[in-house]
Amino acid sequence: MRRARSGRFYTKRGSGMNQKGIGIIGCGAISRAHVNGYRAFPERCDVRAVYDVRRESADELVRWMGGGVDVCGSMRELLARDDIDIVSVCTPPFAHKEPVLDALRAGKHVLCEKPFAPSLADCDEMIGEAEARGLALGVSLQGRFRRDYRQLKHMLDNRLLGDIRFAQMNGLYWRGESYYEAAWRGTWEKQSGGVMMNQAIHPLDIFVWLLGDAESVLAEMDTFGRGIEVEDFAAATIRFRSGALGQVTCTANSVQTEVSLKLSGATRAVGIPLSFHAVREDERGHMVPDEEGVRELARMADEIGDGPKGHAACIGDLLRAIEEGSSPDVDGAEARRVIEVITALYKSASTGERVKLPIGRDDPWYTTDGILAHVRRGRRGEPGSR
Ligand SMILES: NC(=O)c1ccc[n+]([C@@H]2O[C@H](COP(=O)([O-])OP(=O)(O)OC[C@H]3O[C@@H](n4cnc5c(N)ncnc54)[C@H](O)[C@@H]3O)[C@@H](O)[C@H]2O)c1
Repeated sequence: MRRARSGRFYTKRGSGMNQKGIGIIGCGAISRAHVNGYRAFPERCDVRAVYDVRRESADELVRWMGGGVDVCGSMRELLARDDIDIVSVCTPPFAHKEPVLDALRAGKHVLCEKPFAPSLADCDEMIGEAEARGLALGVSLQGRFRRDYRQLKHMLDNRLLGDIRFAQMNGLYWRGESYYEAAWRGTWEKQSGGVMMNQAIHPLDIFVWLLGDAESVLAEMDTFGRGIEVEDFAAATIRFRSGALGQVTCTANSVQTEVSLKLSGATRAVGIPLSFHAVREDERGHMVPDEEGVRELARMADEIGDGPKGHAACIGDLLRAIEEGSSPDVDGAEARRVIEVITALYKSASTGERVKLPIGRDDPWYTTDGILAHVRRGRRGEPGSR
């Protein structure tokens, strides 16, 4: 049996393989992905109760599920139930911390939506609470379970590319004005950031997972959308501790949408959408294709099998962790890593300076209040601004 990071075993109710009761807090769009994810494991879990500040949203979710699930009148009512073991927190970004902490304090394991938190201070508070109570805290960064991303990780871990000399990530999305109509979107207070924190967080998380801890970042960001203050464009370089230098572009204004990665060593490269490349120098010093190199990359990629996808993968990871008494592979500490890089990117784009990591507890950018006080707010889309 694996141990939790705190060294304690996670609390268990009855035997490890008992069916776990699920409660969902926040019944909007993403809650359906959680329901489908739990339903992929019908012998191991069962959604029993939901709660939303808007009663109609909770009723609608239960109707969509086909009934048979209780709608609670308050979060406290849901958390007081003995038949709930795991709580999915599907509220907007600014409203993750309170339900996560309350659920942990009520003895529930938690699956929290991304972005885990607006600041490292909030991440640390939730991670600390889970560790102190010996409870599992997973975060929905479902890209970590994608087969193509895991194939890249496997190749890098086996040093098939050698030292990385070039790394590029494009998170190019398109979000129309109607996307920002939801009351919580478009403001720093409620959405906790723009395209980096909300869309590109997925490929950024993979970038950091593949390339390791960042040493420093230099970023620029802007806001083109009307009536919003969060960034909808960002471009940055990230210097990794390994020495690799990565280049990142994130936008919510790209009509040509694309999520892509390129990682290149001296003679071999891999990319997403999944591709393998290898070259060698011939006797005259000319670059020629290295077909055996490509075959070696493909052979190693084949060693990684497929598994559950999307939220079902995150839920499978959480259930396994609870049953084994260990920590999910994508837990709070893992989710904190990309929050730290994004915080540094916001700090750099706001100050115009290169920012070194880690972000310490004495840094004003460590807390949510500090970020909100210092972040540069864009208002370009509004008449009379900038
Ligand atoms: N993992 C992913 O790929 C993915 C995809 C989409 C959204 N998300 C994340 O999921 C979260 C929710 O997004 P969404 O698109 O479902 O938003 P949404 O607006 O559709 O739903 C949010 C729901 O939470 C409710 N709510 C707000 N505050 C609450 C509180 N304190 N207690 C209980 N309910 C509360 C709202 O009434 C609403 O019904 C966000 O953090 C978002 O970033 C993740």
